[in-house]
Amino acid sequence: MNQHELHDYLEDIPSNESGNRPFEEVLHVSMGRRNLLKAGATLAGGAAFGFSAMASAGSLTLHNALLGFNQQLIGFTPVTRAQGAGPNPAISPEYQYSAVFPWGDPIKPSGPAYSLPMTSAKQEEQIGIGHDGMWYFPILDPNASRFGWDALRDSDPWTSGYLSESGVPGYGDLNGVLCLNHEYGTNAHILRKANPESLEDVRISQLAHGMSVLHIKSVNGVWTTQESSLSRRIHVNTPMEFSGPAKNHPMLQNTANNEILGTANNCANGYTPWGTYLTCEENFNGYFGTDNTTWKASSNQARYGLTSGGFGYSWHKFDPRFDLANPAYANEHNRFGWVVEVDPFNPTSKPIKRTALGRRKNEGATVHVSADGRAVVYMGDDERFDYVFKFVSAEPWQKMRASGESPLDRGTLYAARFNDNGTGDWLELSMANPVLAAAFPDIGALLVMSRAAADLVGATPMDRPEWVTVAPDGRVYLACTNNSRRTATTLASVETGRSINRATNSANPTPVNNDGHIIRWVESRGHSGNKFEWDIIIFAKDTHGSEASFASPDGIWADPDGRIFVQTDGDQKDGLMNQMLVGDPVSGVIKRLFTGVPGCEITGIAVTPNRKTMFINVQHPGDGDPAASSFPAARGSGAVPRDCTVVITKKDGGVIGS
Ligand code: FEO
Ligand code: CA
Ligand code: CA
Ligand code: CA
Repeated sequence: MNQHELHDYLEDIPSNESGNRPFEEVLHVSMGRRNLLKAGATLAGGAAFGFSAMASAGSLTLHNALLGFNQQLIGFTPVTRAQGAGPNPAISPEYQYSAVFPWGDPIKPSGPAYSLPMTSAKQEEQIGIGHDGMWYFPILDPNASRFGWDALRDSDPWTSGYLSESGVPGYGDLNGVLCLNHEYGTNAHILRKANPESLEDVRISQLAHGMSVLHIKSVNGVWTTQESSLSRRIHVNTPMEFSGPAKNHPMLQNTANNEILGTANNCANGYTPWGTYLTCEENFNGYFGTDNTTWKASSNQARYGLTSGGFGYSWHKFDPRFDLANPAYANEHNRFGWVVEVDPFNPTSKPIKRTALGRRKNEGATVHVSADGRAVVYMGDDERFDYVFKFVSAEPWQKMRASGESPLDRGTLYAARFNDNGTGDWLELSMANPVLAAAFPDIGALLVMSRAAADLVGATPMDRPEWVTVAPDGRVYLACTNNSRRTATTLASVETGRSINRATNSANPTPVNNDGHIIRWVESRGHSGNKFEWDIIIFAKDTHGSEASFASPDGIWADPDGRIFVQTDGDQKDGLMNQMLVGDPVSGVIKRLFTGVPGCEITGIAVTPNRKTMFINVQHPGDGDPAASSFPAARGSGAVPRDCTVVITKKDGGVIGS
């Protein structure tokens, strides 16, 4: 297997071996619920987002007003299955796209031009690889201090003027800061060889990871990077700081070079109402390793999938920070797996790892403001049989900000339990729980080992929870991408760390779930409570054979009109490339907007304030192999493919998705 396949394989290996079995007594899938869902779905083109089932199951006060929804929400002509078969990208005929910001282009025009072989000196001033989550922060007023953002800090971007109070009308639609994650790139792709042969090789790889902060502008429809002090690279060796309850915890200290450095495997993202970006560290374990044959993983290390071989990056051979057996860096691995806050408008600010949100293989961190004004963060832990988490700030975020406190530093962390009757509970992960107080010495240790805390309270092991989004009606959507190890009957699997019951549960009812599903729920107390009511709105396999065919949902994003954008990462059926679709949960219509190239996944969504420009990413085109794809260069050119962003506009200038 190539390194990408290895990455996927290792990502798939369950490291949750909990003996707890939250659904041990519920080994059957509620087929009644499932049939209700199917009956409730409006079959449009053979598949649909089932929407009515939620209301049928409802006993909470559901948000049935469906603000802003209408039947004409998705008017475009979809990309057909035949058109979406590759090898080149395809887009709806009413739309157009262009590829921008590829790996290796300079972050500023004055920087070093792309050329191979890569060097660390070049890569440090160039866009990284593995384009994933991102967000666009508009610069509203060319004359204002701090690029017009001050007026918007501490207001809700979507509801209090972000869209209308620009100093110059429309200026923010053409001028902004794009925060762009660089999840990963294999040695084969970046170095053009399987293993690093020097510290220089390792540095190149490290500098290709992390994220880019790019000041970009559009002139005559062409987006380019700017010569701007805002633009910077953040990578595996960038100075960072910790905040929150575990800030000074012993588990985060090293005896050698205690400086906190770097972020890695930056997957999906979030953005806050106070104008900052959240970048999330997912499969950090893959970069650690050791050649010391006497090394043995601790239970904490095993729970996070740390192994002597890692994912084959072999950074540890030249950088002792990533050698698991080096006692001077004994806690380096604990410094990864966090949600990291970045200020797009202050290029000298250090990124901050927010420990109150807990440590896991963080897919994303979706922020929503609760009815009582608190910052609520939804986070998927993307591993087979791992969990969904929620953080709720202790007080309304504006009050905390006004008193100089980050809303992400003090609050309550929860893990989700999906009950068989369609209700759900957010299980508090704190020292107030006697079970957790007995298991952890303090809250800091609990947060560093938040997976283990969730094991102990009986959270529901999921089918690889990826992105979460909150629709304008308040409903929360979660993409469970797949889990081929899910079994129909009870199967206790003893692997790294602990044992897990692989049996289906009502929220993950598909044995050998190769194609994934989407769960939706309604929160109690306007998102700040500890109850919810959930249902499954679609099983991807039910779309197969139809024009709406998709598999392995990963990226999911609700726009302010209620459209649900779904992006895929996995083997598509019916001959399709990985893709982006748009769903209308009211009519049930799903339409395909864009398809990628062989080997790639489609991930990441950002929009300008008027939503007439959308940015998405083509990650690992051709898996780095020119024989599979040279995208964005011409197919067959022999050029090494480059992860890049794709700018999507509608030919008539309309809102994307309409
Ligand atoms: Fe980085 Fe789970 O996708
Ligand atoms: Ca990926
Ligand atoms: Ca993902
Ligand atoms: Ca994925």
